[in-house]
Amino acid sequence: MSHKHVIWCDEKDLAKDLSGKTYIVTGANSGVGLETTRQLIKQGAHVVMACRRVEAGEEAAESFSGLSGSHEVMKCDLADLQSVKSFVDTFLGSHSRLDGLMCNAGMVNMENKPSFTKDGFEITMAASFFGHFLMVELLLEVLKNSAPSRIGILSSVVHAGSPKSRPYVHLDDLNYQNRPYNNFDAYGEAKVANVQYALELAHRLQGTGVTTASIHPGWARSNFGKGGNMLMQAVMTLARPITHSISNSNWESAQTSLHVLLADDVPQYSGEYFSQHSVLYRDKECREGGWPMKSPNPHAQNLEESLQLVEKARKLVGLA
Ligand SMILES: NC(=O)c1ccc[n+]([C@@H]2O[C@H](COP(=O)([O-])OP(=O)(O)OC[C@H]3O[C@@H](n4cnc5c(N)ncnc54)[C@H](OP(=O)(O)O)[C@@H]3O)[C@@H](O)[C@H]2O)c1
Repeated sequence: MSHKHVIWCDEKDLAKDLSGKTYIVTGANSGVGLETTRQLIKQGAHVVMACRRVEAGEEAAESFSGLSGSHEVMKCDLADLQSVKSFVDTFLGSHSRLDGLMCNAGMVNMENKPSFTKDGFEITMAASFFGHFLMVELLLEVLKNSAPSRIGILSSVVHAGSPKSRPYVHLDDLNYQNRPYNNFDAYGEAKVANVQYALELAHRLQGTGVTTASIHPGWARSNFGKGGNMLMQAVMTLARPITHSISNSNWESAQTSLHVLLADDVPQYSGEYFSQHSVLYRDKECREGGWPMKSPNPHAQNLEESLQLVEKARKLVGLA
């Protein structure tokens, strides 16, 4: 018997005609991003699939045949600032409008030692935050020119932490030089940055018609977290019969992203956090989720910290 609840998109939003609209979905070849992409194409949109591995994007896209919309796969490695710039140049070279950008891609470093990108960022923060930060900043003009438009940013329940320990972004030590590294803590920190960035953007973009939101998609049975050591893989395999009943399909996990892109009332809540129901919240009162809901992590709602994050990020990605 299933113990899980799902908050579903309104049928009328999933029936809207999206022909003539253009979206970008990062990490579109897998899991939540793939199902988000599929639904947008089904509704007639053109989706640019921003993928680290183009061949995986092309392979995933074979399953779209017969859908009314269209797609193209473009290379983008979010852990490489030059790759993000090249992606944006290619996109702007052939597109003059952008109705929605879903910053969906993310990863957790499966090694419990830090790994650094060639730009000098810790890998989890690079792929989940800094790459998307640069992409969004470089696409803001086209998003404003295409308004009303939307930006969704995938965070996670993990950003919430617990009442005893709320993660926050260590702006003074992003590369773990003065503190021990823990890969899951690094993921939580990146996911706080995602929520804060959506908050800051909404503040900055007031009156432009560009709406932003951060998202917890649910516990997706995706490829997320695969590739750990053999012990971890064995534990995951043994636990699967239990976790299956409380985790979500990728389609269920795409519901919150689709709601953020398509529902009429989302612009009223720009900058807020939208969460699928989740048994993983340590704060029991959050488990029902909500579109939107209040994050239990005070750092995630702190505009001052969000402004500092963005100021630092601008310098680190070379925009200031
Ligand atoms: N799964 C969950 O339960 C869960 C819970 C909360 C939040 N989330 C968030 O939901 C989002 C989607 O995850 P998912 O569950 O669908 O996982 P997934 O199946 O592993 O998909 C993640 C996607 O991100 C891409 N990606 C990873 N590193 C990248 C990089 N450097 N550049 C560009 N793309 C990169 C992956 O590309 P490759 O295929 O090439 O690796 C893949 O397309 C992530 O942001 C994740 O943090 C997931």
